[in-house]
Amino acid sequence: MTGETVLLTGQILETRGNPMTDGPAALAHDSAGAVLVRDGRIAEIGPAADLTAKHPDVPRHDHGSHLILPGFVDAHAHYPQTAIIASWGKRLIDWLNSYTFPEEMRFGDPDYAAEIAARYLDLLLANGTTSVASYCTIHPGSVDAVFEAAAARGMAVWAGKTCMDRNAPDGLRDTAQSAYDDSKALLDRWHGRGRASYVITPRFSPTSTPEQLSVLGALWAEYPDCLMQTHLSEQTDEIAWVKSLFPEARDYLDTYEAHGLLGGNGLYGHAIHLEPREIDRLAEVGAALVHCPTSNTFIGSGLFDMGLASRMRVGLATDTGGGSSFSMLRTMAAAYEIAQLRGRALHPSELIWLATTGSAEALKASDIGRLAPGAMADLVVLDLASTPAIAQRAARAGDVWEAIFPTIMLGDDRAVAATYVAGARV
Ligand code: GUN
Ligand code: ZN
Repeated sequence: MTGETVLLTGQILETRGNPMTDGPAALAHDSAGAVLVRDGRIAEIGPAADLTAKHPDVPRHDHGSHLILPGFVDAHAHYPQTAIIASWGKRLIDWLNSYTFPEEMRFGDPDYAAEIAARYLDLLLANGTTSVASYCTIHPGSVDAVFEAAAARGMAVWAGKTCMDRNAPDGLRDTAQSAYDDSKALLDRWHGRGRASYVITPRFSPTSTPEQLSVLGALWAEYPDCLMQTHLSEQTDEIAWVKSLFPEARDYLDTYEAHGLLGGNGLYGHAIHLEPREIDRLAEVGAALVHCPTSNTFIGSGLFDMGLASRMRVGLATDTGGGSSFSMLRTMAAAYEIAQLRGRALHPSELIWLATTGSAEALKASDIGRLAPGAMADLVVLDLASTPAIAQRAARAGDVWEAIFPTIMLGDDRAVAATYVAGARV
């Protein structure tokens, strides 16, 4: 609870830098560490012996040999797809038409939206994910539902009304004007209220007319501090479709760029099949990419190039329900496997950083995703021996990274011993 002071003890990985550039020591390990939480934030980090001596009267939560990390940050998800996760046998466009659009249609009912938003956020917390950037549906009530559910849980959530005015079924299309009006009203209602952040959300170029992309670009220009999220170059069929819908565009990114939807506060999901010009422009403007590995394998999209992380911010995400898991542990495992298929072994420190600080940086959020003084006390506590299979492998570990890697590769919500949101255990 806000105002309460508590000392958490256990193994810790303090965020001191970026392991992608600085090596594994950027996450500083202490096998007997402590985190002092005050007023919902991390006040101090240090050896457990020192902090217990310094704060003898502060209540303690002793997590033993469990590992205290920043809560996971899922930088791209669709909460309305919770109930259709793991739907069989389709690739992107058929998957949208067969499973996704019929389900998203149901969110015209505010009670259904509230039920799924609550179910979804509880699943996130059970998986140690404390923040998410989620698409909603075209219905403004779907945005209210997820922000209300997030506020009830104290969570920092990014979300926006998904705009579509073509190539979607009756009942699931807005117009250029209503997309602008509804998005603006929701932004005014929610952006910066508590821990809510509104995100301007054109679904992707195929489901927006140039007019709709333009008005959303204009809205973004009115609120340049807001994030804008969309999809980019996920599947080759999709890219061919974009080419036929926008014959004048130089490439997929240009369909956004030409309408004011390319910028440093842009979040571009997937970004697998990029042209050199697109990579250069994304890097030039300081945009962020979001890697969604379980989705990219599940719906057969392709292999993201993690080498791009040397040129721009890259976050990690489930892409629920195109992604096949709510768990950022499973997501890290899939990121590891995809990088292996491209000839790179991501270190456990890099995987953890991507799922916490990397995603937070993609969202331009400096006070989450870090185990560091001043950051919000949104935390996950991992049991590194949560199943017999993991325990027997971790028992052979020679160092902390070998102890953690089996949980990354084999772990799920059973590995989550505790989750804290703003210092409160949930
Ligand atoms: N592209 C446009 N919409 C979607 C979606 O809902 N999921 C995924 N994976 N890709 C998309
Ligand atoms: Zn998506």
